Amino acid sequence: VRIIHSVSEMQSWASRVQGQRFSVGFVPTMGALHEGHLALVRRARRENDAVVVSIFVNPLQFGPKEDFKKYPRTLAKDLKLLQKEKTSVVFVPSASMMYPAGTSAKVSVPALDHALEGAARPGHFDGVATVVAKFFHIVQPTRAYFGQKDYQQVRVIDRMIKDLNMPVHLVACATVREVDGLAYSSRNRYLSNREREEAVKIYQALFLGRELVSEKIMKKPAQIVKRLHQIFARIPKCKVDYIALADPETLEPLKKIRRPALLAVAVRIGRTRLIDNIVIP
Ligand code: PAF
Repeated sequence: VRIIHSVSEMQSWASRVQGQRFSVGFVPTMGALHEGHLALVRRARRENDAVVVSIFVNPLQFGPKEDFKKYPRTLAKDLKLLQKEKTSVVFVPSASMMYPAGTSAKVSVPALDHALEGAARPGHFDGVATVVAKFFHIVQPTRAYFGQKDYQQVRVIDRMIKDLNMPVHLVACATVREVDGLAYSSRNRYLSNREREEAVKIYQALFLGRELVSEKIMKKPAQIVKRLHQIFARIPKCKVDYIALADPETLEPLKKIRRPALLAVAVRIGRTRLIDNIVIP
């Protein structure tokens, strides 16, 4: 695996590969890699001639009270995992290289950034869209791979690509879960053993929500959301940020149950904030 730290070196590599007409699969990450990331890398490997993975904890997408400083950084371990997966290049830029002093240009996708995560984390999606747009220009990928656990992120990037005519194909991949259903996340490692046991209820709640919709047991989104709130109310030290049944395209809350529907939750268990979702077909 080749490790590249500099933007210009990454750009020269990308131009050379473009000249040879090789396809490039790109997996942007913030490191602390887990099975969810590795599934993206494996798919990128299968579908492209070369695979680039970026590791960059992007300061622009963290709010002032969020976990930027303590976000897990496990570069040596990540590189070993990526080597095993036969990654072509790992791009590991520094913050000063990505955002030289005075950088102010930003990319926004206002149509999709005020609901759900956007409401709970103002400015988050400007940070995501900006860094991903920069990566697309630097890496020039044929295809870019994102996990559906960050459902709104996928929607925002998809819209950015379309609105700005970016020549990259987005590949959205299914959420990878542990055996008990908890979605893999770099933040799962913050959980104590007790909290980890409770965290499985996130998936159970989504599963129940899906049943309530599919079996037409409850008629109104508000009833379903209330039922799920009751589940989280029984978890010690758990605080719900939001539970929403929303339109999977616009992300607007549903007034009446329609399908497909997106059921999305964000909860804090102790000090750890976790998100998850399912699309009910
Ligand atoms: O999903 C993530 O890990 C990040 O939001 C991303 C896409 C790497 C941008 O920093």
